[in-house]
Amino acid sequence: SVKGFIFDLDGVITDTADYHFEAWKNLASNYGITIDREFNEQLKGISRMDSLNRILEFGGRKTEFTEAQKEAMAAEKNGEYVKLIEKMTPEHILPGVLDFLTELKKHNYLLGLASASKNGPVILERLNLSGYFDTIVDPSLLAKGKPDPEIFLTAARQLGLKPEECIGIEDASAGIESINKAKMFSVGVGDKESMKEANYRLSNTSELSLEKILNRLS
Ligand code: G6P
Ligand code: MG
Repeated sequence: SVKGFIFDLDGVITDTADYHFEAWKNLASNYGITIDREFNEQLKGISRMDSLNRILEFGGRKTEFTEAQKEAMAAEKNGEYVKLIEKMTPEHILPGVLDFLTELKKHNYLLGLASASKNGPVILERLNLSGYFDTIVDPSLLAKGKPDPEIFLTAARQLGLKPEECIGIEDASAGIESINKAKMFSVGVGDKESMKEANYRLSNTSELSLEKILNRLS
């Protein structure tokens, strides 16, 4: 039976995609690279350094920089991102999410956070949601990012649960792949195309409902 729910953060609990996009767009433009929102889609769920590598590859400049230079570029992007998230408040929680988290806690489900973001704990604090989560995976300790299942498997282990006892919730196709490979039931929030591998799809977070998800399982 289901005992835990494991959440992605960006795009599921709050919408930070615009902040990431803003910070990456500015960083990229310093190097003569222009990225648009469509390109930004493929950065969702992808770690900071993997995102930078994708941007440099897109701009045809992948081999020009040393690791130290890339670390500095990633740190510069993060500096701008951190400033943008300082303005976040509980009003930035996506519709339906607070009710859903409250409902899950009421029924004694364990909750985990499986975000690739090193800023995850700070964002949960800004949103006043830290208290809902029993565990947060530290992405800096992982060998592989999404779509590898490691992050969701680690969250289940930290909760003391088997993967089959957990449900994963994601908005990125790389994240759905990660959940499916972990052999958890996957709930996808987003359009049909990017959520085509999800076991159950919702078009937005206001549709999150414990009853509907449990009905889908049986
Ligand atoms: C999430 C976002 C990505 C972001 C990644 C790393 O997965 O969807 O866009 O690149 O976290 O975030 P960080 O805050 O560590 O740079
Ligand atoms: Mg996401």
